Amino acid sequence: MVKVLRWTGYVLGVLLLLVLLAAAYIWFASSRMLNAKVEAKPEQLIPMEQASLEQGQHLLLTHACVECHGDNVQGRKFLEIPNVVTLYAPNLTWVAKRASDQQLAQAIRQGIGHKGEPLLVMPSESYQDLTDAEVSALIKAIRATPASGSATPARTVGPLGRIGVVNGAVKFAPEVIEEYAAAQAVDFGPKFAEGRHIAVTVCSGCHGPTLSGKEPEPGTVAPDLSVTGSYDLPTFTRLMRTGLPPDGRQLKMMTGVSQKAFRHFDDAEIAALHAYLVERAQKAR
Ligand code: HEC
Ligand code: HEC
Repeated sequence: MVKVLRWTGYVLGVLLLLVLLAAAYIWFASSRMLNAKVEAKPEQLIPMEQASLEQGQHLLLTHACVECHGDNVQGRKFLEIPNVVTLYAPNLTWVAKRASDQQLAQAIRQGIGHKGEPLLVMPSESYQDLTDAEVSALIKAIRATPASGSATPARTVGPLGRIGVVNGAVKFAPEVIEEYAAAQAVDFGPKFAEGRHIAVTVCSGCHGPTLSGKEPEPGTVAPDLSVTGSYDLPTFTRLMRTGLPPDGRQLKMMTGVSQKAFRHFDDAEIAALHAYLVERAQKAR
């Protein structure tokens, strides 16, 4: 009896040690990844006096920056899942005082924060295709927004989030950028270029790099955008401006992002987007 108890004690002791070792490994490995300093490539920008403030302010709205970073890009808590992560979309008016134009552009197109850390959630996989003039305009608009609010707290990643970081379930922006760069949305030439550019830099974040659908959040499917083939321009415009589909179904994510961001697209942008997506739907048949 005593012998059995003693052996049980040994086994439990060894198991406990293994659990502690695994926890220590996950802690150190995830810290190395979360605190990594990523080497950013130099960005091509246009001279700031030539960048368009108006275009930048328009892009802050249509490209959903305000959806995550809050009105006037003052920052907000974006995600809080106990034991997984607490993540803020930073106050960009505050970041702008500390970061250079290069660093802001690297955050937007390369998913690398101004301290060199690889970003989480920030959809740079879509923004990597913004033109030099567009990124410059965005930076000008961020700098022109009056600084207000306070610094947003740094992200904290809990034990479950750290397991996800180490086993690759949680991906950093630079990695997602590479996946997107390897899979391009079909190109129908100059006539459809403007619509394609909007789809690639805005819609791809949730609908996938080739626009053929993706699960932006576990359990939520953003369908292949060939569904747009059944939308005429007025119903598509209504979807973009109000988030309501033609048959009045209740949508989830799409409604929120339309009401916050896409309603700011002008008629010409909506028409260009519609033309490209309809062409894509018809060519796919
Ligand atoms: C889906 C939500 C989302 C959208 C849309 C989004 N961001 Fe972000 N962004 C984030 C989050 C979250 C972070 C911080 C990530 C982290 O801490 O790992 C971030 C980080 C940044 C940073 C880096 C800040 C720093 O500390 O260096 C910049 C700059 C930035 N975003 C600009 C933009 C701009 C400009 C747009 C629109 C073109 C935009 N973001 C759209 C979520 C978003
Ligand atoms: C934040 C994520 C997100 C972004 C960005 C996004 N979508 Fe969606 N979209 C969804 C999801 C998720 C659905 C499925 C319905 C739902 O759950 O809202 C959807 C559904 C749709 C539908 C089908 C509606 C129906 O009839 O069922 C269309 C069309 C559509 N999106 C077009 C677009 C276009 C065009 C863009 C870019 C301007 C875009 N979406 C950007 C998440 C997104």
